[in-house]
Amino acid sequence: MEYKIKEATGKLGILMPGLGAVATTLIAGVASINKGLSLPIGSVSQMSRIRLGKRTEDRNPLIKDFVPLAGLQDIVFGGWDLYADNVFEAASKAKVLEAHQLEAVREDLEKIVPMKAVFNRDFVKNLDGDHVKTQRTHRELIEALREDIKTFKAENNLDRVVIVWCGSTEKYIDAEDIFTELPKLEQALDNNDDRIPPSMLYCYAAILEGVPYVNGAPNLTCDAPAIVELALENNVAIAGKDFKTGQTLMKTIVAPGLQARALGVEGWFSTNILGNRDGLVLDDPDNFKTKEVSKLSVLEEILDANKNPELYGDLYHKVRINYYPPHGDNKESWDNIDIFGWMGYKMQIKINFLCRDSILAAPVVLDLALFIDLAQRAEMHGVQEWLSFYLKSPQTAPGLPAEHDIFKQLMKLQNTLRHIKGEDLITHLGLDYYQELIESIQ
Ligand SMILES: NC(=O)c1ccc[n+]([C@@H]2O[C@H](COP(=O)([O-])OP(=O)(O)OC[C@H]3O[C@@H](n4cnc5c(N)ncnc54)[C@H](O)[C@@H]3O)[C@@H](O)[C@H]2O)c1
Repeated sequence: MEYKIKEATGKLGILMPGLGAVATTLIAGVASINKGLSLPIGSVSQMSRIRLGKRTEDRNPLIKDFVPLAGLQDIVFGGWDLYADNVFEAASKAKVLEAHQLEAVREDLEKIVPMKAVFNRDFVKNLDGDHVKTQRTHRELIEALREDIKTFKAENNLDRVVIVWCGSTEKYIDAEDIFTELPKLEQALDNNDDRIPPSMLYCYAAILEGVPYVNGAPNLTCDAPAIVELALENNVAIAGKDFKTGQTLMKTIVAPGLQARALGVEGWFSTNILGNRDGLVLDDPDNFKTKEVSKLSVLEEILDANKNPELYGDLYHKVRINYYPPHGDNKESWDNIDIFGWMGYKMQIKINFLCRDSILAAPVVLDLALFIDLAQRAEMHGVQEWLSFYLKSPQTAPGLPAEHDIFKQLMKLQNTLRHIKGEDLITHLGLDYYQELIESIQ
């Protein structure tokens, strides 16, 4: 199949429901980069190169020069929040970036004021803002969100818009009943069914506006079969869920290595302390459950106990998150990994990661926004599994197990880019080099 990719002409709008720590760190970072004050460190789309052809060809362009992505100068940010603070105020309160760095981009940030949120405290108990839409029914709220998207696009003279959910984690819900088929969801929307979370209303509105949607939190949103159906009907790209940063990033780097060397793992205890607003939301057990499910799935897939019961059959995996205000956004995680090797001898690995949550998440949001915009321009619709590299709980085609190994995910991402550009896929087989060498000697 040949892909006709539309050029990234004009401006790209990135709308984010939730202008909190992650979103404001991204916006401030891009403003700082555009002023020549910072580099987009951690952004694979901006800083990483992709090998093309054989190793001997020495073709290694930057990804942003290989595929047509929106330029950082051509991005316009906006969003919604239940607190009315502009992005400068919200970023100052989030305390991720130092005051002098925020001052340097103050004007750019002050201009961005959140639109009123669609919010329901039943889904996030620990927040209580009043910058909230007053429409009462689901259908009215969807219409209001569609108007917001249209106005944002028109006022900023944008060519395209994408939405990345950077809002709080909503309480846990299963993808059953009304979420399983589009006609059932439509009926539930008409009935104002209180099981439908606000995030799904944003997503529904985005899809009807032809706007690609990425879910950065672990809540049920575009991974519901009904929403996948809606996205396919409307030819819209979607992806989710839950940005892969911090502890899970480490897990999906370390676990594939242990598995690759056939080392056994009998226990993996992960604990975190963090003190930002995300931590406050996750302090509620219903919201933590959503995060826990997302975090737990990772090891099960990488260390597949069914295929290797002797190595992973007894694996005990535990994840804890504790709200601890003094640490703010600087999350600290500890992992204790009990492994075993030759003749069953036990060993331990300890990882103490003093990370900065939003510093790790910001480039992930940027790449997801740029790549989902690329997917839409390449007419790749529905679930974009190749973006699982950035996600803790990657959404896949129905019935397909998710791939969590970060190295396989990277290969999938790079090969997708090669594929849509008509370049050869890279298998790393390498035997052809040796064959050529033998032939040249003979
Ligand atoms: N930082 C990371 O490393 C990381 C990793 C994975 C996932 N996430 C997820 O990303 C999201 C954002 O994280 P954060 O640290 O910026 O959190 P945050 O609490 O600082 O920001 C979230 C913002 O969303 C707003 N919000 C909540 N519900 C909303 C709604 N219905 N509409 C509009 N706004 C709404 C809140 O008022 C808040 O300002 C969270 O769900 C978090 O779990 C973050």
